[in-house]
Amino acid sequence: MNVYDSGRMADAMVKSGYAETKDCAEADLIVLNTCHIREKATEKIYSEVGRLKALRKKNPDLKIAVAGCVAQAEGTEIQRRQPAVDIVVGPQAYHRLPDLVAKAGSGTSVADTDFPLRSKFSRLPRNRLPRGQVTAFLTIQEGCDKFCTFCVVPYTRGAEDSRPAAEVVEEANLLVERGARDITLLGQNVNSYNGVGPDGGKRSLADLIVELSKIEALKRIRFTTSHPRDMSQDLIDAFVECDKLMPYLHLPVQSGSDRILRAMNRRHTARQYVDLIRRIRGRRPDIVISGDFIVAFPGETEEDFLQTIELVEEVSYGRSYSFKYSPRPGTPAAALPQIDGDVASERLARLQRLLRKQQQECQRNFVGRTVSVLFERKGRKPGQLVGKSEHLHAVHAQATADCLGQIRKVEIVRSEANSLSGKLVSVREPVGGSPRRR
Ligand code: 5AD
Ligand code: SF4
Repeated sequence: MNVYDSGRMADAMVKSGYAETKDCAEADLIVLNTCHIREKATEKIYSEVGRLKALRKKNPDLKIAVAGCVAQAEGTEIQRRQPAVDIVVGPQAYHRLPDLVAKAGSGTSVADTDFPLRSKFSRLPRNRLPRGQVTAFLTIQEGCDKFCTFCVVPYTRGAEDSRPAAEVVEEANLLVERGARDITLLGQNVNSYNGVGPDGGKRSLADLIVELSKIEALKRIRFTTSHPRDMSQDLIDAFVECDKLMPYLHLPVQSGSDRILRAMNRRHTARQYVDLIRRIRGRRPDIVISGDFIVAFPGETEEDFLQTIELVEEVSYGRSYSFKYSPRPGTPAAALPQIDGDVASERLARLQRLLRKQQQECQRNFVGRTVSVLFERKGRKPGQLVGKSEHLHAVHAQATADCLGQIRKVEIVRSEANSLSGKLVSVREPVGGSPRRR
């Protein structure tokens, strides 16, 4: 979501006369977009600002802004700790960034971390995805009402809020006009999407996907991140009924222990999650499941941890994201007695060994098969392009530049650490076979 947000902030600044640069030394304004989800992410900003402020020697007018969830959580405390910061702007106030920059120009530092009543989206300029980019993010929902006891999101991104369906469709059309073929719908709790439709009635995520799939040139639709509690039947059915919805689902479980799930306020048991996965695979057997895990949540015993290992073995994940618990200020779990760091590191290593093995197995399953790849960009090796398969694997293949933005059949020949490599199946060749010798 921060990638999407950074693009929208750039849009807002471009509209008020700025141009984007990749070179900090050339910039008059540097915006650090920040994440507050774990402590490591938060600490990075202060060292980064320390480094960037040296650029003021050459450009005394350089302004530095801190945006995102750290800005939201820490507010003016950031400027107290690091006076080189001119602007602090929370995730709900990005549309006000140009104003804040103008005000900061008069020598004062400014902060805006209010939760405004009206959605920022209606006040941001239209999304201007650079031409030629074939994959795009589109935020459809923000905030969260779940209040997992470890998580800052409900405090930094605020209450759940869905964008109106027509606004989403309009933005998707714009992205597609600019060349997007694969759109990932974003939300902290994206499957609880509940946006108003043009007739005033509510639309579910499944309804929205059906609506978006009518956009002819849009070939692929994905969504992330979902909560197991909001995985409705119509959404599960969409994986079968809607050709454009890709067979990949990110469905975090965090832990396999009911005791810990309860302490996390996840509102489901391990069994309910496993049964849900079984139901989804019953409808769509080839779906790749990915998940998030937290180890060493306060009170986690070896037995609890082993239940997570058991759950992972039962589900088998194609991809995963796993973390040591990180206490976040203001969240209920931060006040609980914490687990020793070495124990946490050892558990994380054990879990990641298993998850890595499963990822490799999932990738190896594709070797020898022909998959559809949407080519996105040039690869590192000459003549190579990189794209994504329907199951979200990065795939490398030798292909000419005219394949960029196109979906082509690729026969997978090898599984690498984090990607697959294959060879383009010639259009004259029947898919899955090789031409007969005369
Ligand atoms: N500590 C560790 N991991 C966390 N996550 C969220 N909050 C924390 C925390 N306090 C992880 C969860 C979530 C993902 C986005 O980040 O696994 O699903
Ligand atoms: Fe955080 Fe996700 Fe839980 Fe919401 S559902 S509180 S975003 S972990």
